[in-house]
Amino acid sequence: MTQKLLPAISIVCFAVLGWFAVGHAVMFEVKDGNSTCIKAQLSANFSITYPVTNGTNTVTVPLPSSAKVGSGSSCGGAGVSPELLAVFGEGHSLGLVFSHNQLLYQVANLSLSYNLSDSAIFPRSSSKDVITMVTNTSEISAQLNTTYRCLSATIVRLEAVNITFFDVRMEAYMSSANLSTDETVCSADQPTTTVAPTISPRTTPSPSPVPPGNPEPGNYSIIGTNGTVCLLARMGLQLNVTYYSKSQNKTVQSIMNLEPNNTSASGSCDSTAATLLLTEGLTNLSFTFTLNTTTSKYYLSALNLSAAWPDLTVSLIISNSTLDYLQGTLGHSYMCSTEQIIFVSNNFSLNTFKVWVQPFGVKDNQYGSADVCSMDQESVLIPIIVGAALAGLVVIVLIAYLIGRRRSHAGYQTI
Ligand SMILES: *[C@@H]1O[C@H](CO)[C@@H](O)[C@H](O)[C@H]1NC(C)=O
Ligand SMILES: *[C@@H]1O[C@H](CO)[C@@H](O)[C@H](O)[C@H]1NC(C)=O
Ligand SMILES: *[C@@H]1O[C@H](CO)[C@@H](O)[C@H](O)[C@H]1NC(C)=O
Ligand SMILES: *[C@@H]1O[C@H](CO)[C@@H](O)[C@H](O)[C@H]1NC(C)=O
Ligand SMILES: *[C@@H]1O[C@H](CO)[C@@H](O)[C@H](O)[C@H]1NC(C)=O
Ligand SMILES: *[C@@H]1O[C@H](CO)[C@@H](O)[C@H](O)[C@H]1NC(C)=O
Ligand SMILES: *[C@@H]1O[C@H](CO)[C@@H](O)[C@H](O)[C@H]1NC(C)=O
Ligand SMILES: *[C@@H]1O[C@H](CO)[C@@H](O)[C@H](O)[C@H]1NC(C)=O
Ligand SMILES: *[C@@H]1O[C@H](CO)[C@@H](O)[C@H](O)[C@H]1NC(C)=O
Ligand SMILES: *[C@@H]1O[C@H](CO)[C@@H](O)[C@H](O)[C@H]1NC(C)=O
Ligand SMILES: *[C@@H]1O[C@H](CO)[C@@H](O)[C@H](O)[C@H]1NC(C)=O
Ligand SMILES: *[C@@H]1O[C@H](CO)[C@@H](O)[C@H](O)[C@H]1NC(C)=O
Repeated sequence: MTQKLLPAISIVCFAVLGWFAVGHAVMFEVKDGNSTCIKAQLSANFSITYPVTNGTNTVTVPLPSSAKVGSGSSCGGAGVSPELLAVFGEGHSLGLVFSHNQLLYQVANLSLSYNLSDSAIFPRSSSKDVITMVTNTSEISAQLNTTYRCLSATIVRLEAVNITFFDVRMEAYMSSANLSTDETVCSADQPTTTVAPTISPRTTPSPSPVPPGNPEPGNYSIIGTNGTVCLLARMGLQLNVTYYSKSQNKTVQSIMNLEPNNTSASGSCDSTAATLLLTEGLTNLSFTFTLNTTTSKYYLSALNLSAAWPDLTVSLIISNSTLDYLQGTLGHSYMCSTEQIIFVSNNFSLNTFKVWVQPFGVKDNQYGSADVCSMDQESVLIPIIVGAALAGLVVIVLIAYLIGRRRSHAGYQTI
């Protein structure tokens, strides 16, 4: 344990060019002592807009094969995230900072620094600054112990830069010195057809032969480090996944319910993040709740689906960590009986039924008072409003009738 804390982390770095015949992918390896933690083979084009005296200019520069692992790279540990810092040219660098949960690792931060005084790359630049651009919304994520593979071009947009990655194979948090043979294939590499997704219930093979009804709600809980329950959830869950079916040779849309009695829950809680990982056979679904301590509100911030169904050509992995659903107040639970559709990506959404969840501030294994979702409030309010309107109408008719009677009565008297 203490060995990890020692600052004597030596990083062995080397770049090998032309690892594969394809293009000029550059190979990077970050090591801590003898153990490799990050290995990446990647190609990238940077499209950069920079100021010139009469406006702006845009150049496209490839990641050169001379790029090397820079000294800012590290295997992390003790609160430091692993990072690959690829340095090239006259003071340019590409940084990938990784993070992980029980299931996945991902590029948490992606940054590009470029030195505008490099006139070979930035001719006529009116600035000599070193510009750094960071994004924390890269789509690069993969299952732990698998290699992330994305041979197709994918674009990451930063403010004044578009980075096009292609021919990428990489792995972080490696358990051996070689890239895992198991791969997580990015969605751009997934085989697709132009045929519109169709549901063919009779012929859809596993996991579900017929479109299921509403899912049964399951009860799930997580025990925190101090031995008490820190997250409580009761919800019915239905996956709506579009994928390429091996048996049908086409893209299919599949609706699958999570069966509570076949689903196991695990996870962890800390002061501002709680993760619930549900596993049903070859399906893993993880929920990340985040607490905003300024507002004392929590929300579902990320969902990850990973699946290895036999009908898939490559294992499926879909995640979105910029969600904002199921919002509640710290100390309260969140409740929503109305069905909700949580959009995760174009090929996956999660339908939730009868949700009752509390990811933070659980006391004595009990739900706190419930924050009821607005849809439920509306569905309660509508009958009340309709009822009130009807009652109002009855009163108006009655008054009109009484006034009418009195008028006609008075009429008789004057005659
Ligand atoms: C690295 O490996 C060599 C030989 O395999 C061994 O002698 C050395 O102690 C190892 N170093 C570390 C830090 O594990
Ligand atoms: C990258 O840039 C090179 C040269 O500028 C170009 O030939 C190649 O098509 C680009 N690749 C991608 C995936 O954009
Ligand atoms: C800026 O100047 C360069 C060279 O002097 C010229 O090629 C370019 O067209 C000019 N751009 C604009 C927007 O005027
Ligand atoms: C990513 O960058 C942001 C701001 O640049 C920083 O606050 C955050 O801690 C970084 N995350 C990681 C995992 O390094
Ligand atoms: C990854 O592999 C290591 C070593 O083989 C193992 O300890 C770890 O549990 C694995 N992690 C996952 C998520 O499979
Ligand atoms: C990045 O891509 C967007 C959309 O394709 C384009 O509008 C923008 O000009 C590009 N920016 C740069 C710096 O290439
Ligand atoms: C356990 O930790 C939670 C916060 O994570 C706290 O609210 C609770 O009081 C703790 N319980 C005990 C028995 O220490
Ligand atoms: C599944 O998602 C598709 C869009 O991706 C949508 O058209 C369809 O209605 C959804 N089905 C269910 C049962 O949610
Ligand atoms: C799917 O395609 C493969 C090869 O392209 C073929 O052998 C197989 O019979 C096809 N299956 C179906 C159900 O069409
Ligand atoms: C699981 O639940 C379903 C329906 O809720 C039930 O039909 C089935 O028997 C249950 N299976 C087990 C192993 O309890
Ligand atoms: C917390 O919420 C406030 C107000 O919505 C927002 O400005 C702030 O960025 C949030 N903080 C975090 C860490 O998300
Ligand atoms: C992630 O979810 C947000 C909110 O639902 C959505 O706007 C965004 O497009 C999603 N990202 C992807 C890659 O689908």
